[in-house]
Amino acid sequence: MTHVAYPVELETHWLQVAQAETRATTIRDVLRRLLPDIQRLADRFTVARPADGIATPYLRDTRACAAYSLFYAPQTHARIAHVLAELPPFPETAQPLRVLDLGAGTGAASWALLDHLGRRPVALTAWDHSRPALRCLHELFAALRRARWPEATLRTNPEPLENFVVSSEKFDVVLLHYVLNELSPSARRTLLARAARSLAPGGRIILCEPLVHEAGDFMRELRTQALADLGLHVLAPCPHEQACPLGEPCHDVRTWKISQALQILNAALHRDLRHLAFAFLVLTPAEREPAQTIRARVVGSPAHAKGQTLCPACCSDGQIHRLQLLHRDFDTAGRKDLRHLERGQMLRLDSLKPLGDPALVRAVPAP
Ligand SMILES: C[S@@+](CC[C@H](N)C(=O)[O-])C[C@H]1O[C@@H](n2cnc3c(N)ncnc32)[C@H](O)[C@@H]1O
Repeated sequence: MTHVAYPVELETHWLQVAQAETRATTIRDVLRRLLPDIQRLADRFTVARPADGIATPYLRDTRACAAYSLFYAPQTHARIAHVLAELPPFPETAQPLRVLDLGAGTGAASWALLDHLGRRPVALTAWDHSRPALRCLHELFAALRRARWPEATLRTNPEPLENFVVSSEKFDVVLLHYVLNELSPSARRTLLARAARSLAPGGRIILCEPLVHEAGDFMRELRTQALADLGLHVLAPCPHEQACPLGEPCHDVRTWKISQALQILNAALHRDLRHLAFAFLVLTPAEREPAQTIRARVVGSPAHAKGQTLCPACCSDGQIHRLQLLHRDFDTAGRKDLRHLERGQMLRLDSLKPLGDPALVRAVPAP
């Protein structure tokens, strides 16, 4: 499994913004002075969450944007890279890929998508009610475009998401990263429906959200809405479109490479940043091509014993099975991957064979 490192150029850009804001000279001092700003944001996302539906812009100035971006953007970049790695390539389009980032903030999710797309022409629209965030996003794009995304264009829209309505304009990708949990349940449903009706044929909606226990299992509800009411299909992460069989919110727990500034910040903040826990859903109007193999998504912690790995997985048949993966069925690289198997990873299997123990099935990998 590969880990995409957070690009140094992005971190350097935010350090320069933070340096101008804090007037500190060394990187350590810049980061030390931002700690209270980061703490305020972290509280806003956890212990000081406002009641559902009360949208108070917290990216209220450049300093808050720099604090947000130095602490959260590397995590976002890694999460989006994990999500995009699960997807088939984006379909070819005659014109630049039209991407709409709803609740774009300072652009972290968009930059990860643009990095993934390389030199592909992209027309990015970033929508957020925070003007300072969109200004910062615009400045970063202007500074790094030529070197990183020379074929991309940017348009920003400083408005509340409630103003996003269906028009004749269609998008190939609608990104909603860590936004829906800040909206009321009815605002989430409305936004998803409007996003669905704004998709071009073959387009994709990419939803990614934190596990916020007070918000309930809203991703499961949105999945049901998407399949039952909006005529969408699930491109990832589910290996089937039956009712979700999990007894808890479906999520990934992934390891990643922590960026340098974040390591320095976390020496003072002491957050558990080794793992990224998040929920995601990628929806499309186009029916998915039938898979050639059985797909199984790891939905719990794998256990390793001599010669075998056991893990619960959500499988193409719509059921959760406890898989027995015998190491002898894998080549050297496959055995190494098994040792690092993570919650959320997708396995491609040739067969599932019942065993004497009804709680266990033997999973044979696809060749
Ligand atoms: C946690 S941040 C995520 C930002 C960005 N998507 C990212 O991944 O870095 C949530 C963003 O949603 C925006 N937002 C929240 N509620 C909004 C609303 N009702 N209208 C417009 N923007 C909103 C916030 O201003 C903020 O930039």
